[in-house]
Amino acid sequence: MTRHFLRDDDITGAEQSEILDLAETIKADRWGRKPLAGPQTVAVIFDKSSTRTRVSFAVGIADLGGSPLIISTANSQLGGKESPSDTARVLERQVAAIVWRTYAQSGLEQMALGTTVPVVNALSDDFHPCQLLADLLTIREHKGTLAGLTVTFLGDGASNMAHSYLLAGATAGMHVRVAAPVEFSPADDVVADADARANETGGSVMLFTDPNEAIAGADIVVTDTWVSMGKEGEKAHRVATFGGYQVTTELIGLAKPDALFLHCLPADRGYEVSAEVIDGPQSVIWDEAENRLHAQKALLVWLLERAS
Ligand code: CP
Ligand code: NVA
Repeated sequence: MTRHFLRDDDITGAEQSEILDLAETIKADRWGRKPLAGPQTVAVIFDKSSTRTRVSFAVGIADLGGSPLIISTANSQLGGKESPSDTARVLERQVAAIVWRTYAQSGLEQMALGTTVPVVNALSDDFHPCQLLADLLTIREHKGTLAGLTVTFLGDGASNMAHSYLLAGATAGMHVRVAAPVEFSPADDVVADADARANETGGSVMLFTDPNEAIAGADIVVTDTWVSMGKEGEKAHRVATFGGYQVTTELIGLAKPDALFLHCLPADRGYEVSAEVIDGPQSVIWDEAENRLHAQKALLVWLLERAS
């Protein structure tokens, strides 16, 4: 049966480890795997802007022997005239996989329903699972393990990144803490799913409003923009509401002395994180950005092996 990757808990903990192991192997031997030789084409569709996701999928698909077809919905029929499921019927006859950055998670679900090729979520309003594979790879490289580590996400708890940390962190057996203003708490159903997954893996999920409490003793500190794509009209309100959640030197000083700082980028220095922290010694953001390439190549190899 065709496997898709629409949200972080579409894979089990064992499968997540398998993909991360594969990412390490692929990183060590960058051009060693050619499952897309032919070249076979992978469609990579964008409804929203992107630098890292666009580049890492394009480069990764080429590394795997394939040909990336980058589509902007602004000049395709998808998003206006044609449904995701009809689009999938057309694409699946010609491409090996479909990667899509969009708004509603439901669009991805429609795209994947009954489709014979893997569909990958390259960011939706609700989740950013490819980013989490890269983040977990980065943490594992620096810390040697994932299970048992405490990761604190600060800021927009209702964002795709906070939701993905809840699901992917719990899947990895991590203790996931999210600190957010009540108004921007994670969605209840995502918290419940993360909690259920954590019960299986030995991880845990905790929600906070106090950033100091949430970050105390953390191994990993994460934040993201306060103004996600699509929320630009709420910028003034968000900046006013999230003010106390900026990751400063003082705040990260409450985490473990060897805590790592991650940010999926793009970053707004002086808003969600100070320049001193993001450009400082605890920050691993450039490894994290590079690991998008290796993690997504591993994901594609893994999905393609299971798609036949
Ligand atoms: N982190 C991330 O997804 O970056 P882009 O928006 O540049 O793809
Ligand atoms: N939460 C951010 C992530 C950008 C990669 C957004 O959705 O805009």
